[in-house]
This record gives sequence, C-alpha cells and structure tokens, in this order.
Amino acid sequence: MKYAGKKGLVAKALEEIVNLSAEEKKAVGKKINEAKQEIQTKIAELQDKLSGAPSATALDRFVKTLPGKKPMAGHLHIISQAIEEIVEIFKPLGFTRVRYPEIDWEYFAFETLNIPATHPARDEWETFFIDAAADKQYGRQVITPHTSNGQVREMLKGELPIRMLSISRCGRRQEDVNHLQTFFQFEGLAVDKGISITHLKGTLDYFVKHFFGPGRQIRLRPYDFRFTEPSFEIDINCDLCRGEGCKFCKGGWTELGGAGMVHPNVLKAGKIDPNVYTGFAFGWGVERTYMMKSGTKIDDIRYLLNNDLRFLEQF
Ligand code: DAH
Repeated sequence: MKYAGKKGLVAKALEEIVNLSAEEKKAVGKKINEAKQEIQTKIAELQDKLSGAPSATALDRFVKTLPGKKPMAGHLHIISQAIEEIVEIFKPLGFTRVRYPEIDWEYFAFETLNIPATHPARDEWETFFIDAAADKQYGRQVITPHTSNGQVREMLKGELPIRMLSISRCGRRQEDVNHLQTFFQFEGLAVDKGISITHLKGTLDYFVKHFFGPGRQIRLRPYDFRFTEPSFEIDINCDLCRGEGCKFCKGGWTELGGAGMVHPNVLKAGKIDPNVYTGFAFGWGVERTYMMKSGTKIDDIRYLLNNDLRFLEQF
C-alpha cells in the first residue's frame, strides 16, 4: 500500500512530475512506470500464492485448450420418462392425469370393483395390509394392488363424461423376471353415452402405435376381471425375441395388462346410471410397457429398481 495505493509513493511521484522539465519528465516517467509494473507483478504473484484464486498472471498461464472437468449430469429415471411419455400420448385424446391413494380402503380396491369380501377373486389381489383398525364402512387399508381403485373415486366426483388417466405405485406379492413387488400402473377410464368396445380397441391401437414404434402387434385375449364385462388381457409381440419365445415372455407374447367394458355394478357404485352411460377401462404396467418399447432390450424387470447407474445411464 505504501508504494502502490491511490495515495502511495508512486501516485505521489506521478503528481510531482509536472514540475519537471520535458527531458526530466521522460526519464523519470519511464522509471516510475517500470517501478509500478514491477510492484503490480509482485502483488499478483503474492495474491496467487496466498489465495489460490486466479490472478492476472495465473490467467495468463491458463491453458485454454485443456478439456475441462464435466460435472455429473443426471436425467429422469426410466420409469419417470415412461410416465411422461404415456401422459403425452393420451393427452390429445382428452385423458387427464389424476392420482389416487396408493394406500387405499378395501372398499375402493375391491368392493366397489364388484369383488365382495368373500369372493375368491380377492386371493389374487390381497397383498399388503396396513396394521390398523378397520373402518366400519370402508374396511381395512391395503397397499393398492392396482390403479383400478381410482375408477369409482373418479366417478364419485360427479363430473361426466370421464376421461381419466390414473398413474400410481402398486404392490403385489410376486417378484421375478417380469414381476415387481412395487411397480407402477396406468389406468384409463372413459365413461360417456354410447361408449363401445370399438372405442376401447381404437384407443389401445392408438397408444400402441405411438409408444412402441412400427411393426408391433397386440392381441386381446378373453379374460375374467370382476370389474369389466367383457374383459381382456392385452399382449404385445415380445420385443426381446420378436415372437420366438424367451424367458421373459413365454411363447412370443408379453402381457401388458387388462381392459374391458366397465361392469354395470361398478358404474352403480360410482352413482352413474348404467342404462344411460357405458364405459371402458384398462390398466397396464408401466415398467413392462417400457421394456417392450422397440429396441430397449431389457430382459429382467428387476434392473429397473436396482439403481445401478451403469444400467440407468443407458436410457
Ligand atoms: N386391475 C387389473 C390388474 O391389475 C388390470 C385391469 C383389468 C384394469 C381390466 C382395468 C380393466 O381397468 O378394465 O391386473
């Protein structure tokens, strides 16, 4: 500071230079400038050493052509990517995403879906119950085994027509190459006057064309779900073996989920008159649907939840 500050010796010398002759000015000026330069370089070096922050001289030494260190950039998990894509595909058809409880009453998970307490169809679905007192009207609480629990909840909003897309986590007891205990489903529900099976088929075809890419086929197999009549299971020609049969698909077709025409008892539970309104519904697994997308070639569903970056970074 004594030399280089605003009121330091160098500044003072520069002020006094006006009193000198032209020749002296030149010589003295040169000396002062040299001194100034030397002081500034010394200060920069000192700063450089003390703080580690880049001073002018450090920047001069900076090699611009060296590649920088890239910060790790993450991206959405495969399941989130799939959910976003599914939502976008259904949007133009008027389906709006909603969410219903992942832990729900037996009433919405079973009863309102035409599965009374004593019905053997419950065996398939009864999974993880919450250790808490049962409600007189709604029964026990369960980690919902399917997103169909949202159907009657949506109807009870009392807004018709319905175009619902409910996506949430579900729980089941199986876990193997194509089952997870914790997985996601997307559930479509359309209720309106004059809804027929053609609307269901058209909607599913539209989704398949947009999600899986060209050259894929689905098939509808008759099935029995208590909440739809008629009911189907929907399979797609397996992308892993392209129809030849593999450990994942069994026989060249992979099951994606169920669908059907909403059962009149379900409409009644939702306070909708089945003589005036009809509807279709479908519920598919998000993870399996993503695995069947052309070219992903994921042959074990459990990879999706392993959180191994070497796997996740590929998608
Ligand atoms: N809830 C069924 C399941 O998890 C799938 C399903 C079947 C959903 C038929 C539906 C339906 O909406 O209509 O296996």
